[in-house]
Amino acid sequence: MERIGILTGGGDCPGLNPVIRAVVRKALLDGYEIVGIKNGWKGLVENDTLPLDMDAVSGILPKGGTILGTSRTNPYKKEGDLQKVKDNFKKMNLCALVAVGGEDTLGVASKLTKDGIPNIVGVPKTIDNDLSATDYTFGFDTALNVAMECIDRLHTTAESHHRIIVAEVMGRHAGWIAIEAGIAGGADVILIPEIPIDIEEVCSVIKRRHERGKTFSIVVVAEGAQFKDSDLILQEQKLDAFGHVRLGGIGEALANEIEKKTGYETRVSVLGHIQRGGSPTAFDRVLGTRFGVKAVELLKAKKFGRMVALQGVKIIDVPLEDAVKELKTVDMDLYNLAKVFFG
Ligand code: F6P
Repeated sequence: MERIGILTGGGDCPGLNPVIRAVVRKALLDGYEIVGIKNGWKGLVENDTLPLDMDAVSGILPKGGTILGTSRTNPYKKEGDLQKVKDNFKKMNLCALVAVGGEDTLGVASKLTKDGIPNIVGVPKTIDNDLSATDYTFGFDTALNVAMECIDRLHTTAESHHRIIVAEVMGRHAGWIAIEAGIAGGADVILIPEIPIDIEEVCSVIKRRHERGKTFSIVVVAEGAQFKDSDLILQEQKLDAFGHVRLGGIGEALANEIEKKTGYETRVSVLGHIQRGGSPTAFDRVLGTRFGVKAVELLKAKKFGRMVALQGVKIIDVPLEDAVKELKTVDMDLYNLAKVFFG
């Protein structure tokens, strides 16, 4: 019986378990054996696996996180790890691998298809929604809904106390969570990495709003947003195994500047990993399920080096390298629409 492996890498997100369940159910139906590789690429480096069958995936559809565990291990970083990945792929007796992840995990998958492991299919995951070639990644919808609910909650307390509240959301160098949660939550200013922050402009929008009688404001800022003014640049930040900076801190810096320049009491709320936790929305469960089934169909058809993707209402497949070629950033039409509601 042919054997398929599946791993989940990078930051976890709601929808990973629906993908795992779908891959396992479809693979078993099609007569494959399936094994889970623990903790992303780390499990392939260390030959760490988890047997997967119908029982193992029973009841996981509504659960957040990933039953396989995850890590940000990059097998191209440490000398010798790439060889271990190749050796363990053989030892595990795999005919193919499903790699579920974002830019980094799929970037490794794409390289591996040229470095000796061609039989890989990718599934696009990330709350950041920043992968090219797919309209949506699963995980984004849940994070967006969590952020929207938090903004709703911040509204009631900001209004009662006549304060400005800055909500810092995730999304790395793309402002998708900020722009969509900001629109859905009725934020008064939305700041995204795609547009450098003009602090004078932000303060004048808030002042204009208060001049028309409002005594509170909600500002949503993406963690990757940066000040236009170089004097306000944040301190050096730590790097992960893929060389990405660990973001965070812009909310605090922004709140300080707003309070200083407007004189209005300003607080900050960093939503952080709350956005990545918990049960996936119906949208993410369905998208993850469709992606998982399609991934096994691709493997069966020996269409390797591909990534499943959503385009319009259809699940299609695209070259893995297309997904990681460039970051998908916020569409300026959407930003201009959001601006109609600023102030
Ligand atoms: O890529 C998903 C993400 O949640 C980003 O939005 C965020 O910058 C990063 O991961 C946080 O990573 P970690 O969980 O390693 O702190």
